[in-house]
Amino acid sequence: MPPVLALDGPSGSGKGTIGQICALKFGWHYLDSGAIYRGLAWLANSKSVAADDVAGLVALAESMSLVCHVQTDDVAQIEINGRIVTDDLRTEETGEMASKIAPLGSVRAALLAMQRRCRRTPGLVADGRDMGTVVFPDAEFKVFLTASAEIRAQRRFDQLKSKGFDVNLARLLESIQARDVRDSSRAESPLKPADDAYVLDTSALSIDEVVACIMDHVNQR
Ligand code: C5P
Repeated sequence: MPPVLALDGPSGSGKGTIGQICALKFGWHYLDSGAIYRGLAWLANSKSVAADDVAGLVALAESMSLVCHVQTDDVAQIEINGRIVTDDLRTEETGEMASKIAPLGSVRAALLAMQRRCRRTPGLVADGRDMGTVVFPDAEFKVFLTASAEIRAQRRFDQLKSKGFDVNLARLLESIQARDVRDSSRAESPLKPADDAYVLDTSALSIDEVVACIMDHVNQR
């Protein structure tokens, strides 16, 4: 089996940016599993499938084709059913819907095979909430990134603002805190570090410093 670096953590902990940099450094594939949940949420919103319509969501999940194009200098571009939807996936509306459908066990099961198929030679960097615990429990490397909710809200604010979105910091913080509670308290694949994960608080670290810590961790093993 090709090696996996599982990179888990809450919203805004820097997994996406760090994951792409690590994937480019290793020359490995990259899986943004949040984009899969956001992609399904966006599809559901655009087709008016409600968050409690489990059969409708599972059918959408089974018909969804998602491609993740890693960039050298920007966030990964996400293509769903042939259309680039990167910016649509980053809106709070899509994030909120994603976190409502993510607790549903049959939705998660429908998306599991899609995620495991991404484990291809020469290796995979997979970012999400349950990469090290459920999707790739046998991953060679497991890293869990954390940061305070305030810092994560500020990062998301800066990211959205730079893309021209009209955002409110206080509302973003509230939404991040609510999502943390939902992600950590759900019965199915809750957000938590794997027992054998390297836990890294990124609150006071730059992107380069976080990447250096992860590289040291990988090289030591
Ligand atoms: O990481 P991101 O914020 O893009 O994820 C969007 C939502 O998808 C999260 O709030 C979380 O509920 C869900 N998710 C998940 N499992 C993953 C990745 C994301 O439940 N592996």
